[in-house]
Amino acid sequence: MKTKGALLWELNSPFKVDEIEVGDPVEDEVQIQVHAAGMCHSDYHLTTGATPIGLPALGGHEGAGVVTKVGKGVTGLAEGDHVILAFIPACGQCPPCLKGFRSLCDRGAVLLGGKAIADGTSRVRAGSHEVSPMNLLGTFAPYMTVHKDSVVKIDPDVPFESAAIMGCAVPTGFGSVTNVAEVQPGDTVAIVGVGGIGMSALQGAVLSGAKHVIAIDPVEFKREQAVKFGATHVYPTMAEAIAPMIDLTYGLMADKTIIAVGEMRGEMIEEAMTLTAKTGTCVVTGMGAMTDVDVKLNLFLFTMLQKTLKGNIFGGGSSHVETPRLVGLYKSGLLKVDEMVTSTYRLEDINDGYQDMLDGKNIRGVIKYTDADW
Ligand SMILES: NC(=O)c1ccc[n+]([C@@H]2O[C@H](COP(=O)([O-])OP(=O)(O)OC[C@H]3O[C@@H](n4cnc5c(N)ncnc54)[C@H](O)[C@@H]3O)[C@@H](O)[C@H]2O)c1
Ligand SMILES: [Zn+2]
Ligand SMILES: [Zn+2]
Repeated sequence: MKTKGALLWELNSPFKVDEIEVGDPVEDEVQIQVHAAGMCHSDYHLTTGATPIGLPALGGHEGAGVVTKVGKGVTGLAEGDHVILAFIPACGQCPPCLKGFRSLCDRGAVLLGGKAIADGTSRVRAGSHEVSPMNLLGTFAPYMTVHKDSVVKIDPDVPFESAAIMGCAVPTGFGSVTNVAEVQPGDTVAIVGVGGIGMSALQGAVLSGAKHVIAIDPVEFKREQAVKFGATHVYPTMAEAIAPMIDLTYGLMADKTIIAVGEMRGEMIEEAMTLTAKTGTCVVTGMGAMTDVDVKLNLFLFTMLQKTLKGNIFGGGSSHVETPRLVGLYKSGLLKVDEMVTSTYRLEDINDGYQDMLDGKNIRGVIKYTDADW
């Protein structure tokens, strides 16, 4: 079918909304009418080349919509179902999946390659060009054809804007605290960077019973919002957090530190490890450039204070387990997701949305599709 999508044709240039052709679902695939798409910082990393993808690329890996076509061999999904898109289509059969680490499914290796899992061909075209959809999704288009493993059915009463951000920001941030850092009641938790991912991490810390929830962000609006989401203390920088955290914790510091800044840089590791307690864990969720290899870390203290430094992808869980859990928390009123959607945009205004993200105006900006787009 012919539709439109926000394409990246070259690096360091804005997204451009152009006509695209989205293929029909083959075996194991479904077509989805996209109703809302979250603007995650990870799509911005495509525009700078920090995350390399074949060009032209179609952005968007956070989204929610309605199933419109079902390919052969798909069970458990029907036309009209409301769904969330998962950005790792876990196979369930590779070694990491079998060990229970579905967010580390070996299919992760092909997600930026642009070719559909089902048959290895391109599902999106722009004129004569084969297009790489972000994470084999491409939610910056009103329609998408995706593998069934990328799709999680949800209750139809969840608003699409909130459902969309439960595809990446919420599970990645929340799970960084609950699954990866394994925060315990009474812990002191520091969250560095409270955008979409960090504010979800913050809520994970609150709901895990953390005693002190410390949010660190240079943007005043983010710090004000963090307090509304349950932060007990806020600071503009990691350096400015050290002295008050020594007072607050009798010198023990944070049991768990989560780094969720927009652009990860190697020198941040040492700063974050300074905030982290003896035997504490620091989880790195923010992403830097794929080619960056330099990290600043005091190796003596790292060893002698027996600290742990961990990565995190997609909150360390399985989307088919985590999504229902998070939707349940949202519907019970414990998890504030509507409140994280600061502004909505038309697809045509996507670059304004990303500028607002860079300017610190949004917890999460969301593209909303209407009849005019379908
Ligand atoms: N690991 C994963 O699976 C995964 C998934 C999604 C996103 N990400 C990454 O997580 C990061 C955050 O994404 P987001 O969508 O929440 O971004 P965002 O831009 O919405 O939020 C980033 C926040 O970090 C703050 N910040 C920037 N520099 C800082 C610093 N030095 N100290 C403290 N705060 C600082 C910003 O003010 C902003 O509030 C990005 O790098 C993104 O690519 C990782
Ligand atoms: Zn994301
Ligand atoms: Zn797998």
